[in-house]
Amino acid sequence: MNRKKKMFVFFFIFTLAACGLFSSMNAYAGDLGKLANGEGKWGEFWKPIEMFRWWDPGHYFEPDNKVEGEFQGTDCITCHKVTTPGIVLDWKRSKHSGAVVTCDKCHGNDHQKLSMPTPETCGTKGCHAKQVKQFKSERESGHPAHARAFHPDVVEAGWQINKPQPEVAGCAQCHAVENKCDSCHFRHTFKAAEARRPEACGYCHNGPDHRDIECYESSAHGVITKIDGDNWDWNKKLKAGNYRAPTCAYCHMYKGTHNAVENTVYSHMGVLEVDRGAEEHAAKRKKWVGICNDCHSSRFAAAYLRGADETVKVSHTKVREAKAIVEDLQKDGFLEAMPKDLAPYLDEGHKWNLGSRMYNITEIERTYFDMLVYQGTTVFKSAFHMSADMQTYVAAFQQDESLLKVKSEASKLRRLKALEEKAGISHIPYDFWKKGEYTDTLNTIDTK
Ligand code: HEC
Ligand code: HEC
Ligand code: HEC
Ligand code: HEC
Ligand code: HEC
Ligand code: HEC
Ligand code: HEC
Repeated sequence: MNRKKKMFVFFFIFTLAACGLFSSMNAYAGDLGKLANGEGKWGEFWKPIEMFRWWDPGHYFEPDNKVEGEFQGTDCITCHKVTTPGIVLDWKRSKHSGAVVTCDKCHGNDHQKLSMPTPETCGTKGCHAKQVKQFKSERESGHPAHARAFHPDVVEAGWQINKPQPEVAGCAQCHAVENKCDSCHFRHTFKAAEARRPEACGYCHNGPDHRDIECYESSAHGVITKIDGDNWDWNKKLKAGNYRAPTCAYCHMYKGTHNAVENTVYSHMGVLEVDRGAEEHAAKRKKWVGICNDCHSSRFAAAYLRGADETVKVSHTKVREAKAIVEDLQKDGFLEAMPKDLAPYLDEGHKWNLGSRMYNITEIERTYFDMLVYQGTTVFKSAFHMSADMQTYVAAFQQDESLLKVKSEASKLRRLKALEEKAGISHIPYDFWKKGEYTDTLNTIDTK
């Protein structure tokens, strides 16, 4: 090939690539459609990112595709073997392929009117009506639960709408568990055997505010599952005799119920102090001991759980000690900066709300937040998930450190204030508390 020809071919390929790029960009940018506005009481203040089409398909999914025509299940598979081979392979490995639940049963036949399935879709024609009903019954508990994870808890959360949406995309991704059934049994195999494994829950139940998987993995239960799990038949139902150690679902979806909150005592992830051993929770405690009793003596289990109750109580004494110190600073006007000097929040303006914010606050408030929401919840989760190290070194001793930080910072703030008063200095908080490249991106309403 001579040089001129080479240039021509290069140019031709370049043009093709550029056209392809622009045409595919057009296909996705264009009209925002249903994404033009958010939902809920803050709807006018935010625009969901594109992925909301799949994370909340019931509200946002709109098909946008060049392929036209109505197809039968076999046609979908023939073409998608080439278009998306990974999906067809997964589907082939699922029970759905044996039962001829083809692509169209969940997504529709008309390629211009495709839909993404919601829990209702899985429950239609009596297919999985039982699981859908149990799942929906979680809503009756009135507190956090998979079946209400997205709308009441994320879309209505002012502090989440307060932030730029691309920053908080993760909220919607985990909390989409309300909107579809592929959270624990991933698409397109939808295997119960996968959902029974702790890793499936750990996909969401991890991280500083809900260290469930970390606690479980370091407990005897988690360790045995790791050492011996490969020898178990995960196709068997979660019940006594089938498993040597309990997984998340063994304990929380006992005997396969899809209501995961039936037997939990609500405590805002462990933020609120709740005595699970108190008389009013006796019925639930009895049920827990019954579950442990599949493998332990009831005396052993009850004693362990009573110990966990006490561990949680100690952690709250530290939290209260720190809280009193920070509240006094606020009462005396010694926080640098005070709430009125910060950018206002979307939902509460300049209202002071100790322990509920982790950004746009002062360092001492943030230390208190960590102590309550990250370390405190980990004390609870590790105690009730039998993790020795997590409850002592990782969470409880970190709380000690936070309490010291609160005391030191409070001491410095008070001494500085005393010096300023003596020197006749009246300090006006710096502008950077209220303004800045990132701070200006917060959705705010100045309610004074
Ligand atoms: C002639 C080929 C062809 C046939 C037949 C076909 N599809 Fe598709 N389908 C495509 C192509 C191409 C895409 C776009 C893939 C991409 O974006 O990479 C697509 C996309 C999809 C999507 C994704 C939609 C989105 O917005 O994410 C779904 C779901 C889907 N098809 C389901 C079906 C179902 C159900 C059938 C049968 C009723 C079917 N397809 C039949 C070619 C086909
Ligand atoms: C039993 C129901 C069911 C069947 C059968 C099914 N799907 Fe899906 N599919 C789902 C669910 C659930 C989602 C996730 C929806 C969401 O994220 O909002 C999904 C999402 C998708 C997506 C978009 C997400 C992505 O990863 O790109 C495509 C494309 C898709 N399916 C194609 C297919 C094809 C092709 C078939 C047939 C081989 C098929 N589906 C069969 C339930 C099903
Ligand atoms: C796709 C993410 C996701 C997966 C996977 C998941 N969860 Fe959850 N789970 C959540 C979210 C989000 C919440 C909080 C719901 C809310 O905000 O109302 C939650 C709440 C819970 C609660 C109630 C907590 C309370 O405070 O009352 C329990 C119990 C629970 N999950 C157990 C499990 C178990 C067991 C598994 C695995 C079998 C699992 N989850 C898998 C996201 C998930
Ligand atoms: C929090 C995790 C989780 C979510 C969310 C979830 N499942 Fe499950 N699912 C499981 C577990 C764990 C099992 C195994 C139960 C057992 O061993 O008895 C299971 C089993 C099933 C089974 C029985 C399958 C078999 O082969 O025996 C069906 C059907 C099912 N789920 C449907 C659904 C539907 C429909 C939804 C949406 C409403 C859903 N699941 C949401 C965890 C989940
Ligand atoms: C041996 C049984 C057992 C296992 C295994 C287990 N849990 Fe728990 N879990 C408990 C108990 C007991 C509590 C405290 C429940 C109560 O009384 O509210 C709890 C509390 C929770 C809570 C908080 C619910 C609330 O009351 O606010 C969540 C969420 C949770 N567990 C998720 C998980 C996840 C995810 C896994 C696996 C990584 C797991 N659990 C493994 C027994 C277990
Ligand atoms: C890694 C997955 C994940 C991400 C990311 C995530 N969450 Fe959650 N969220 C959970 C789980 C799991 C729970 C339940 C934990 C428990 O009960 O112990 C939960 C609980 C909650 C609760 C219930 C608190 C209560 O008990 O009253 C709210 C509200 C919430 N999340 C909002 C958000 C917001 C807003 C964001 C984004 C800033 C977010 N979540 C990000 C997984 C996630
Ligand atoms: C499916 C069986 C099974 C269930 C259900 C179960 N465990 Fe265990 N658990 C085990 C096994 C096996 C060990 C490992 C015993 C050892 O250390 O040798 C263990 C270990 C423990 C340990 C650590 C061992 C020790 O002596 O300190 C504690 C604590 C514990 N379990 C508490 C509980 C509690 C509380 C429950 C109920 C909420 C429970 N378990 C449910 C099987 C189970």
